[in-house]
Amino acid sequence: MKILVINGPNLNLLGSREPETYGRTTLAAIEADLRRQASQAGVEIEFFQSNHEGALIDCLHAARGQVDAAVINPGALGHYSIALRDALAAVDYPAVEVHLSNIYRREEFRHHTVTSAVVAGQISGFGPLSYRLGLEAAIELARRRQEFPPGGWSERQGENS
Ligand code: DQA
Repeated sequence: MKILVINGPNLNLLGSREPETYGRTTLAAIEADLRRQASQAGVEIEFFQSNHEGALIDCLHAARGQVDAAVINPGALGHYSIALRDALAAVDYPAVEVHLSNIYRREEFRHHTVTSAVVAGQISGFGPLSYRLGLEAAIELARRRQEFPPGGWSERQGENS
């Protein structure tokens, strides 16, 4: 089982970027923590960060048929990128959206994400723990998909009608 963990713009600067909002934990430390969590769960993870919308979309596309679920912190792109939203809607695996900060306690423009309607769920406000919880949720979603694959009996109900 494989989970993709994908991070958008400016998250490479975690640790030094607005520490009062995002804390002092670096993205490398978050990655190391998730790798430990994944290996304890017997799951493989692939980690990717980019400041470029297209690179994130290419990564989501390339993961089709390769991963069982994804954890995504879209950064600011989550608030406005319809292209990223459409990529999440297009892929064949479920995603969990995570944010370090509680976006609903911040500026009004952060209260809405265009991505939230196409992901399985969202976790916001727990700092690095948001990623741990996100990975736990993604692993559970991936397990359920293995048990009840998409296109399985229940989804085929309408096929002959
Ligand atoms: C963020 C919240 C976004 O509003 C912001 O643009 C980020 C980080 C978070 O993890 O809290 O870059 O996604």
